[in-house]
Amino acid sequence: MNKQDASERIDKLRGLINDYRYHYHVLDESIMSEAAADSLKHELAQLEEQYPELITPDSPSQRVAGQPLGKFTQVEHSSRMLSLNDVFNREEVEAWLKRVTKLVPNDSLEFFADIKMDGLACALVYQDGQLTRAITRGNGFVGEDVTTNIRTLETVPLQLRPAKGFEHLLVGRTEIRGEVVIYKKDFDALNIERAAEDKPLYANPRNLAAGSIRQLDPKLAAARPLRFRAYDILRDDPSDIPTNDYAYRAIRAVGLNANTEAKTFTSIDKVLDFAAYWDKARHNLAFNTDGLVIKLNDRRLYQELGVVGKAPRAAVAFKYAAEEATTTVKDIVLSIGRTGTANPVAVFEPVVVAGSTVQHATLHNADEVARKDIRVGDTVIIYKAGDIIPQVLKVLTELRPKGAKPFSMEAELKRQYPELEFERVEGEAAYRMKHVSGPLLLKRALEHFASKAAMDIDTLGEKNVSALVDAGLVNDVADIYTLTEEQVVALERFAAISAAKLVGGIQATKKPPLPRFIYGLGIRHVGAQTAIDLSEAFGSLEALANADLETLQSVEGIGNVVAESITAWFADEDNQELLRKFKEYGVQPHYKKHVGGRLHDQRFVITGSLEQLSRDQAAEKIRSLGGTFQSSLGKDTTYLVVGANVGASKLAKAQKYGTKQLSEAELMELIG
Ligand code: IVH
Repeated sequence: MNKQDASERIDKLRGLINDYRYHYHVLDESIMSEAAADSLKHELAQLEEQYPELITPDSPSQRVAGQPLGKFTQVEHSSRMLSLNDVFNREEVEAWLKRVTKLVPNDSLEFFADIKMDGLACALVYQDGQLTRAITRGNGFVGEDVTTNIRTLETVPLQLRPAKGFEHLLVGRTEIRGEVVIYKKDFDALNIERAAEDKPLYANPRNLAAGSIRQLDPKLAAARPLRFRAYDILRDDPSDIPTNDYAYRAIRAVGLNANTEAKTFTSIDKVLDFAAYWDKARHNLAFNTDGLVIKLNDRRLYQELGVVGKAPRAAVAFKYAAEEATTTVKDIVLSIGRTGTANPVAVFEPVVVAGSTVQHATLHNADEVARKDIRVGDTVIIYKAGDIIPQVLKVLTELRPKGAKPFSMEAELKRQYPELEFERVEGEAAYRMKHVSGPLLLKRALEHFASKAAMDIDTLGEKNVSALVDAGLVNDVADIYTLTEEQVVALERFAAISAAKLVGGIQATKKPPLPRFIYGLGIRHVGAQTAIDLSEAFGSLEALANADLETLQSVEGIGNVVAESITAWFADEDNQELLRKFKEYGVQPHYKKHVGGRLHDQRFVITGSLEQLSRDQAAEKIRSLGGTFQSSLGKDTTYLVVGANVGASKLAKAQKYGTKQLSEAELMELIG
């Protein structure tokens, strides 16, 4: 091919490859397969090799990673990269809006809200449509020149696309700001590979994205699944971009990605609905988010309102409840799992993570404890994996108290289970009880559950238990509630009548008294009397499951060892699954308070914080006087105890129901 023909072919190839990129990354559609696109890229590279003088910096071939840099150059931002002030609830959003409308009185304000991405902020500079520079946020004024790394990202066009109505953006300077993110699925896949290679796992997508952009070898950046998503476009003449809504359309038109979830709103209530929706739905997003960005849609107003400190007045970050928090490890207890393995469980100072209180987390096995070097007394960062199961992310060794001893599985097994023998199975991370198997343990557990002092199922004796387990009809204790007469009669030991008796006998125990049920669970150190004490103190299985170590120990007759054992039992994932199954199968333990207490028939809800005693202490006191403690206000609630820092919505509900309100002092008087 002569040079003239090559030049024409090169132009066409570049156009088509750019189209492919745009359709794939921005429009989320594919105009050809990846293999076909690769083949075009290959042809382009060959032609450019033949005629190097035809190579231009914006050719798609020029994404290939070059030589590592010696260091990054510092570059000044054309305008400061700002931060945002955080707001956490409706009241704070309304307060923000009040401040804004005071400065720019206006009753038809429009808002623009987008998902706040958890990544690394970067500014891309395009001169006459060509990517000339990419700069990290740095301190907001000066960042690092990471152009060589950013050029390797397919989501960053090397040349802006000409688009009807947006031609002016390809003339002069256009700056596009956004976040470099890694999708959750890509991150998980990388970590699965790392685990297979026995390499330490990456902590989270944001750190990995930041680490990949802020390292000197573009080959490494190219190898990581980094993506750029824009949220802002800047021009020398700000009137080029009148609204944020327009900015997002412009970003997409010139060939970059902006979140399609972003929207314009005409009332703050609608914005708050949007926030509530994404608080629930955010886990379905491809990337991590910790909130929303809410801005005024009109950028002239935005300019007019200016900046206070590091943040613009005309925008806020609406943050969701943290999914990470720090707390201290009060204890590491061992629970014996269904198959006889000893599972270490961390017991924490209770802390709220992503909206619920966390007080323990499984540490999986001794290797994991050693790898993370978790010790009693340590301050740890915990997070909710998949937003449900709490996990220890890392230990803050800087905060470790003097004398904190490394965890030793062997020593702990001896301390917590002196009468049992354990062995470490070759090639396994687990310590297992010696001389017992899973089925054997299950048989013992079932016999105990059915025993006279527990559920008292007299048809479920040793021989029947054995037959059911050996036949594989039950895999855990809850499974007995799924047994059918047809299944049972098929076993050698049974005839129609005995099968009916067994199944009927089991089904008849679906509403057991709570103390019998608790005793039947076989929690170590929890005998029949302790089960009664626990029922009396907590009133329900849920309340017992949620009790922390201190609350447990405050129950008459329950010391450290028993409290630890109860905590470990409820923290065990197998046991949580077991309880879930009981519920699913309709097993509902009930507890009747001894009637006649001073607060008999009176139902209490506490809102806000109390000064003189903890919520749990108040609840316990109320129960001990025959009253009922409720977790949320209902029509049947007798008293709403109003502590400090109470939200208006709680009180509104009480007013609606006509619930009597008590101050803390009045409560104290009542419970004496
Ligand atoms: S708008 C004044 N939109 O969050 C900055 N920012 O805490 C206004 N961020 O600096 C930026 N997702 O790095 C905006 N959809 C989004 C965002 C977003 C993430 C980052 C950005 C910003 C920081 C502010």
